[in-house]
Amino acid sequence: MTTPPSDPVPRLQVRGLEVAFGGLTALSGVSFDVADGETVALIGPNGAGKTTVFNAVCALVRPRAGTVRVDGRPAPSAATGLLRAGVARTLQGLGLFERMSVLENVLVPLSGIGAPDALAKARKRLEDLDLAHLAARPAGTLPYPERKRVALARALATDPRLLLLDEPAGGLGAADIAALADTVRRVAAEGCSVLLVEHHVDFVMDVADRVVVLDFGEVIACGTPEQVRTDPAVEAAYLGLEAAA
Ligand SMILES: Nc1ncnc2c1ncn2[C@@H]1O[C@H](COP(=O)(O)OP(=O)(O)O)[C@@H](O)[C@H]1O
Ligand SMILES: [Mg+2]
Repeated sequence: MTTPPSDPVPRLQVRGLEVAFGGLTALSGVSFDVADGETVALIGPNGAGKTTVFNAVCALVRPRAGTVRVDGRPAPSAATGLLRAGVARTLQGLGLFERMSVLENVLVPLSGIGAPDALAKARKRLEDLDLAHLAARPAGTLPYPERKRVALARALATDPRLLLLDEPAGGLGAADIAALADTVRRVAAEGCSVLLVEHHVDFVMDVADRVVVLDFGEVIACGTPEQVRTDPAVEAAYLGLEAAA
């Protein structure tokens, strides 16, 4: 396949996404791209539609209109298809198997490859995320920050080309957020594209190459963290939230 260098196929392409819940239009005409190796953050006030975009990208909600493409192909509509397309995600609810060990949790998405390879990959990711010493612990017995890292290790175990993270910094303290930022940067440096949904603005400004701002289900701004930070429409959307936070 040849692609002109001036018009590369983005890792993730979202076009004209429209989602309604009954009479409520949650998203209208949402479009953005995530390029190869790029980290894009989706931010916006509560209720803006961030999780709905995330869910539409990983086929948890069905859009009324619009398209989601991964590497130029329509995004798969099931978890196994996403895995095969090189897409991994962590959900806000984490979805760990509480009674299984940390290692067993990370092995779950690796069931399709040979056992020694799976074990090597899983152990590598546990080391990367400073979880090796907890490998044998039941996931449900760990504190929240460690549980979040297990969910991330599990997503990364499949060597995704596109990583989707919903509120990865939520509920974490400063030290864990700094470690998370390092992880995201390392993953991106390995060529993985990252889409993160987040309302922790400082973290976003720290790790994102580009920021897409949603308000009332529409993209109101898109640009580098610096461009977005000084955008009057963004300031208006967030007005009052600083005081409330
Ligand atoms: N399953 C659902 N059923 C009905 N309304 C929903 C559902 N999920 C989200 N919404 C509504 O859609 C809008 C966007 O929600 P959401 O995507 O969760 O926003 P955010 O993640 O930015 O806080 C909100 O008005 C929310 O109440
Ligand atoms: Mg949300």
